[in-house]
Amino acid sequence: MRDCGASPSSAELLDWYDRHARVLPWRVSPADRTMGVVPDAYAVWLSEVMLQQTTVAAVRDYFTRFMTLWPTVQDLAAASDDRVMGEWAGLGYYARARNLLKCAREVTARGGFPDTRAGLMELPGIGPYTSAAIAAIAFDRTETVVDGNVERVMARLFHVETPLPAAKPELTALATGLTPADRPGDYAQAVMDLGATICTPKSPGCGICPWNSDCLARAAGVQATLPKKTPKRPKPTRYGIAYLARREDGAWLLERRPDKGLLGGMLGWPGAQWGDTPCEAPPITADWQDPGAEVRHTFTHFHLRLSLRVAELPPDAKPDRGAFQPVRASDLPTVMRKAYELARSTLTPPVTPPVPH
Ligand code: ADE
Repeated sequence: MRDCGASPSSAELLDWYDRHARVLPWRVSPADRTMGVVPDAYAVWLSEVMLQQTTVAAVRDYFTRFMTLWPTVQDLAAASDDRVMGEWAGLGYYARARNLLKCAREVTARGGFPDTRAGLMELPGIGPYTSAAIAAIAFDRTETVVDGNVERVMARLFHVETPLPAAKPELTALATGLTPADRPGDYAQAVMDLGATICTPKSPGCGICPWNSDCLARAAGVQATLPKKTPKRPKPTRYGIAYLARREDGAWLLERRPDKGLLGGMLGWPGAQWGDTPCEAPPITADWQDPGAEVRHTFTHFHLRLSLRVAELPPDAKPDRGAFQPVRASDLPTVMRKAYELARSTLTPPVTPPVPH
């Protein structure tokens, strides 16, 4: 705990943010904020939902595309589920996309976003982190935003040796103590930017940090070792088989996955439940070929090894499940896209080119 040196202040960090804020497509710059430009709650909400579990670099293009396709929450609310799931493909954590649509429809029905953290918490897919982020950034409420970046900054600034996740309440309390009543939205973004650009996990750039003279971990020379983490259990491996059937006209047999569960609501290749051993479950009788190679993909809680079966089918093929349709690789979740690329490379080109989507 703190026992010497100056106390960090939000003013030091805001001063740094005024000069070094990252330019992000969903962000109102501190200069524009001073001129009275107000953030669009829809853009803030959309960006924060996309940024959960995902990096700024990965989110940028998705955010811009969503804002072009659906410039307002009412536009998004009116979009079809399949279209939104297709545009979300590749971002992962697909429950976020289903909740995004639910939330857009509820906000539209209510006539707009609630402007308090408690009100925001009532909406689908909005938890403690997102509600604090929207309340602070969009509505300048004095709420404290705590993500992984903020936890790292606090653990170092206050030299917290308790490992995560046990340290979370302590780090949240420390972050709350620093949150100012003036400019809480800019302050929230400033701490996140500091964590993303200077107070980085491996080799923090303490020489240019606005809080360097206040940082207790730096004074002790242990900044790069914090935050400590309780080791995670190793992830188990699951096995599966995916069936990729291409019809002579270039259409492929795809199935929409049930709304609940992993990759819920997304398009995918027919197969059986993934488990400790792979399970055969062809969706149609065919001369299935095993290309030998397998797809490997890591989800939050397990590694997946997915074997493939590939077949070419005649125009009158009648599958037991799924439907033949043109494939747009960008509509597929990443693991299904990997299987598609692999299967395609094993087949000769189709008789006629696939119909554009
Ligand atoms: N990470 C998540 N949300 C962010 C934001 N609003 N600014 C900077 N980094 C972020």
